[in-house]
Amino acid sequence: MQMDAEAAQESAAQADAGFLWDFWYPAMRSTVITEQKLVTAMLLEVPLVLGRTSEGKAFAMRDSCPHRGIPLSYGRLDGRVVECCYHGWRFDACSGQCVEIPSLSSQDKLKVERIFAGHYPCEERDGYVWVYLNSPGTKLPETIPAAPGLTVFSDKYKITHLSCELPSHIDHGIIGLMDPAHGPFVHQSWFWRKRGSIHEKAKQFEPIPNGFRMSPHSPSMNSAPYQLLKRITGEPVTTTIDFVLPNVRTEEDRSGKMWFSSRATVTPVRRDLCRIDFVAAWNLFFLPVSIFRIFGKIFLRQDQETMIQQAEGLKHNPRLMLIDDADRPAKWYFALKANLIESRRTGAPMVHPMEGPVTLRWRS
Ligand code: FES
Ligand SMILES: [Fe+2]
Repeated sequence: MQMDAEAAQESAAQADAGFLWDFWYPAMRSTVITEQKLVTAMLLEVPLVLGRTSEGKAFAMRDSCPHRGIPLSYGRLDGRVVECCYHGWRFDACSGQCVEIPSLSSQDKLKVERIFAGHYPCEERDGYVWVYLNSPGTKLPETIPAAPGLTVFSDKYKITHLSCELPSHIDHGIIGLMDPAHGPFVHQSWFWRKRGSIHEKAKQFEPIPNGFRMSPHSPSMNSAPYQLLKRITGEPVTTTIDFVLPNVRTEEDRSGKMWFSSRATVTPVRRDLCRIDFVAAWNLFFLPVSIFRIFGKIFLRQDQETMIQQAEGLKHNPRLMLIDDADRPAKWYFALKANLIESRRTGAPMVHPMEGPVTLRWRS
């Protein structure tokens, strides 16, 4: 009874935080967890401890011993068992099931195997450890979808990862990610574009499940990298950009046999902190990883600095505006999120906020 009330309270607090549960989120890079090491992470305000069993399988548990709540990360990992540092209770790392309570005597009847530490499905993709977070106080569904993977278009390619933290609520992180109008101001630089290159654009969008797509189009040719690509292949460049709940933006650029594919996710750590994880893969022979990373870091840093400045203003709870058409994707995001929550609550199919394809116009 007590536990149920606590779980309900926790889930109410976390619902208020505006998190979307029952999705996969990237917790950390795969390279961070090496054998026999316990590493902590936080996703959606859930403290996690991650590790890798001696067979190499990544696991994620709630970083809290069910006995007295001490973080399990202070304990140790032994093969596939995590041992709590306080009274030595031992838990199977992949199922969370308790396998031993050292203090029990031969007289004790406690069913050790009925005790579970919190644990979460865990998969590795594209160099990340993904954790599936079901909403607090609920059981895991029987089947869960596979963790998202980056689309690639050939066997051989380069791949690289970047990340940065934003001192923002997840919603601001996401609408910042999909905002077309900040480019000429925040990202102006000699290699990308100048402020003077701002011009009117018309882009077609279409609904996709849980999200929307900027339909395949030729990217803005005032950007040097696209011009170069077109000159090399002699073929048109097509870009497709998708946003899908809870937090995924993917972009695929193709020109002849050349391709570039990227994914950015904005993951809530706490209600006032989120993290962008950016992974990109490409087979463009003229683009070395080192060069891409230099420019990628500049871009992320520009966004991060802006979000730091915005957080300063948001402390005072200002009223905000979303305008057409430049902020329409942000409006769709809020509507998608609200409609998903509503459909989960009622069990009715989710209503998509877009009725069909639509053209948006803005200057950027
Ligand atoms: S608190 Fe973990 S075993 Fe007691
Ligand atoms: Fe940006």
